[in-house]
Amino acid sequence: SLPVILDVDTGVDDALALLFAVKHHAIDVRAITCVAGNASLAQVVDNTLRILDAADAPSIPVAAGAVRPLLATPRVASHVHGQDGLGGLVLPTTNRVAEPVSAVELLRRTLMESDEPVTLVALAPQTNLALLLRTHPEVVDRIERIVFMGGSASVGNATAVAEFNVWHDPEAAAIVLGSGIPTFMYGLDVFNQVTVDQDRAAALASGPSGLGAVAGALLSNRVALSEDRSLVYTGLIGDAGAICALVDPDALRIERRPVRVELAGYGRGQTVVDRRRFSGEDAIHGGVGDWTAIDVALDVDAPRYARLFL
Ligand code: BDR
Ligand code: CA
Repeated sequence: SLPVILDVDTGVDDALALLFAVKHHAIDVRAITCVAGNASLAQVVDNTLRILDAADAPSIPVAAGAVRPLLATPRVASHVHGQDGLGGLVLPTTNRVAEPVSAVELLRRTLMESDEPVTLVALAPQTNLALLLRTHPEVVDRIERIVFMGGSASVGNATAVAEFNVWHDPEAAAIVLGSGIPTFMYGLDVFNQVTVDQDRAAALASGPSGLGAVAGALLSNRVALSEDRSLVYTGLIGDAGAICALVDPDALRIERRPVRVELAGYGRGQTVVDRRRFSGEDAIHGGVGDWTAIDVALDVDAPRYARLFL
């Protein structure tokens, strides 16, 4: 099965992704690293350990990483994920504890000790990954691919143009994108499409399976503010879609496109995806800035991913 390391900011939908990843027979979760994002670092670590218990997961090393972005102001998303990051879902306490090493060290160790290259799956702001690449550049050859949930080729969520994970730490995302490691972007273009309907979530939440009950409760928490400021059910599986992409990439329309991360002005945190089929005036006049060609998911067979997740 596919060896992966998950970098998370658990987070309602990171929790869904963790449940799915540790239960999927084709995925071998070698380590989990935590970063501040949806919630504070301490909360993220606690949520992650509890979710592993809820999934009855084998012993998987977990480590705490960055407490805040490299340069950006820390801003947690408690309006989306609740004060506790799990939308109010109270899970039993756990005997699991985090490793006594930093996320960067756990990443380094796991990559260097693996007998085969490992896929890094980033479901959160990319602060830990950027610190890893700056601290231990020797790990680059040990990384099969970076698969990240983040960015957008169209609409944003944190701002009109920027997706939360990239917006939260744009400098980190720019470092990761510029690393030259093969990279796959599972952005809002596909993230926003994969949903489980409310009846199905409620049935899971009250059903016989303990694992289903946790997933159902988490899904029932997937709400967003609509334009009139009222709360609406979204049922998004969110970050869990990036795990679907690991095992069923054929459900996606993927294009290799030049991408850059904007660092200044209102566009800060935007991933600009060049979808032109011709070169424009910018190329004629010498081009602008740092572009990296990466694989971008532009469309998804959403019902297929919802079924896969369920
Ligand atoms: C991303 O930000 C967080 O709210 C979610 O967990 C997801 O990783 C969506 O923009
Ligand atoms: Ca996340």
